[in-house]
Parts: sequence; structure tokens; C-alpha cells
Amino acid sequence: MQIDLDYTGRHVVVFGGTTGINFGIAQAFARQRARVTVASRKQDNVDAAVASLREAGAEVHGVVADVRDFEAVGAAFVQSVARFGPVDVLVSGAAGNFLCAAEAMSSNGFKVVVDIDLVGSFHVLRQAHAHLRKPGASVIQITAPQSFVPMRYQAHAGAAKAGVDQLTRTLALEWGREGIRVNSISPGPIDGTEGFRKLMAPTAEDRAFAQEQVPLRRFGSLDDIANLALFLGSPYAGYISGALIPCDGGGALESVKPALEAAGRRALG
Ligand code: HXC
Ligand code: NAP
Repeated sequence: MQIDLDYTGRHVVVFGGTTGINFGIAQAFARQRARVTVASRKQDNVDAAVASLREAGAEVHGVVADVRDFEAVGAAFVQSVARFGPVDVLVSGAAGNFLCAAEAMSSNGFKVVVDIDLVGSFHVLRQAHAHLRKPGASVIQITAPQSFVPMRYQAHAGAAKAGVDQLTRTLALEWGREGIRVNSISPGPIDGTEGFRKLMAPTAEDRAFAQEQVPLRRFGSLDDIANLALFLGSPYAGYISGALIPCDGGGALESVKPALEAAGRRALG
């Protein structure tokens, strides 16, 4: 179930937009008649996402770019803007994650997640700035509950996403005068995604227990997140900037954390 907002002719760029939650967002904007650019590291993911969006009738552009590569990210914006014009909505959601106790984590293991999630987000927003529609652009960062609820085995991702959220607030301050809004969406556990599989549901029992702990008693769907992104990208959200908006059935209010950590502990053995 998706809200209906007309994005005809608008250019929406989704970084990390070829699978999972971010692809769900790209699909939702495409359904609302936006011109959509999706970018990620792997050629096969980009090809599959472009083919699927095109089959659904969307105007779509696909780019291969690793967010860790500042120049490649810049080139991706130059290409996509040459094709579809200034960026009306930018979604920055590329991320990497794994469960690991801090004392077992290598320096490179910590660094790789910070490089993708935090430094990568800076690269995407920094390179986008020259190409954002001014005034009017909406920048949406995809963060995670561990940015503000510390979770065991998530030292790398929690630190990186906390940085992502502070980047949201800082750029909302700096770019507000140009009419650019910057916000973070913090999804709870979204069923059927890579993040969900990796972090929290190794057994049916873990899954059932975790679901019971979400105040709304269900996991999230791709549409739950896409609807919030459609709203934040639109003029209806025209006075919202610098916000961190959980979309998690109330899970970040604390109760879901022990269930996630128990699943993580069992997964690590
Ligand atoms: C310990 C690990 C590890 C693991 C990798 N490393 N996996 N350490 N436990 N399970 C270490 C490696 O040993 C290495 O350190 C370093 O991390 C880099 O690993 P590479 O495989 O060389 O990195 P790379 O190929 O760049 O891959 C990055 C990645 C990978 C993060 C490791 O998983 C990835 O690309 N993921 C993208 C997809 C993804 O994770 N999506 C989920 C996002 S969900 P050494 O020292 O050996 O060199 C999310 C939030 C969900 O973010 C929230 C739910 C509530
Ligand atoms: P996902 O399917 O693995 O999505 C990650 C996307 O980022 C993929 O398109 C991936 O494509 C791309 N990516 C990864 N590393 C990249 C890099 N270095 N450069 C460019 N692109 C890169 O995972 P997901 O679970 O849907 O997560 C999506 C977002 O939601 C993430 O920001 C995550 O932190 C957040 N989140 C997820 C959950 C959840 O329950 N799933 C909960 C909270 C927050 P390539 O492999 O082709 O690069």
C-alpha cells in the first residue's frame, strides 16, 4: 500500500539503490512517475535494478559507483544530471554490516563499515550538492536504530550511523539557506532484507521472539519505508529538516533491543 504523490518529471537519485530497502524506495518513486537514477557497486545489481524498473515503465538511469570512491561518486552525478536534470530528491543508503564482538573485530573490519556508511554518505552528499535543485531539494539519509540505541556486536555500524545522523543535522543547518532539506529515516527490522537476514533472524524462534518485542507486533515492510521517503521528498514535508525519523513500529523505544542482541549472540556461537 503506497501513498499517491505525483513526482512527474522529478529526478530522484538513490545511492545504494539496487537492492532491499533502497530499491523499494526507488520503485516507489518510479511508480509515482519520477525519473530515477540508481547507483551501487556491482554491475549485476545495477543491471537487474534498471531492468526491473524499466519493465515497470520507469525512466531510469543506472550507474556503477562505490561510495568509497569520491571521484566515481562525482562522475555518477555528472552523468545522471546530464540525462535527467537537477536532483530533486537524493536518497543516500549504501551500507555494509556484519555481527562481530568489538574485541574480535579487526581494525579493517571497523574501518570498512565506517568507510561505506559514514565516509561514503559524506561523499554522496558532498558530490550531490552542486547538482541539487535549489531551492526545493530533499536529501534523505537511511540510518539505523543502532545510531542512537547502542547494540552489542554493532560497534562499527553504530558509530558510523551516529555519524551519518550528525551529518544530517549539520548539513540541514548549512544548506537550509539554499532551500535544501536534509533528514534521516531510521528503519526498524524490515522483513526480507539483507540487513534483517544478517543481523537478526537466524532461527524461527529468534524471529518470533523479536517480533513480539516490537510494540506494533510486526516487522516493517519495504512500503513502510518507501511511504516515508515519498512524503519527505514532497512539498508536504516542506518544513521538516534536520529530523531523525524512526519508522520501526516503536521498536527503538528499547524493547526490541534484547531480542536483537539474543539473536546476534546465538548467530555468533
Ligand atoms: C568479522 C568481518 C566479517 C564478519 C567482514 N569482516 N565480514 N569481520 N565478522 N562477519 C572484515 C574482514 O575480515 C575484513 O577485515 C574487513 O571486514 C573487510 O572485509 P571485505 O570482505 O574485504 O570488505 P568488502 O568486500 O568491502 O565488503 C564490505 C562488507 C560486506 C561490509 C564486509 O558485508 C558488504 O559489502 N556488505 C554490503 C551489504 C550489507 O551488508 N547489507 C546490510 C546492510 S544492513 P580484515 O582485517 O580481515 O582485512 C545495515 C543495518 C541493519 O546496515 C539494521 C537492522 C536493525
Ligand atoms: P542491502 O540490500 O544490502 O542494501 C545495501 C545497498 O547498498 C545495496 O544496493 C548495495 O549494492 C549498496 N552498497 C553496499 N556497499 C556499497 C558501496 N560501497 N558503494 C555503493 N553502494 C553500496 O541492505 P538493506 O538491508 O536493504 O539496507 C539498506 C539500508 O537500510 C542501509 O543503509 C541499512 O543500514 C539500512 N537499514 C536496514 C535495516 C533492515 O532491517 N534491513 C534496518 C535499519 C537500517 P551493491 O552490493 O551493488 O553495492
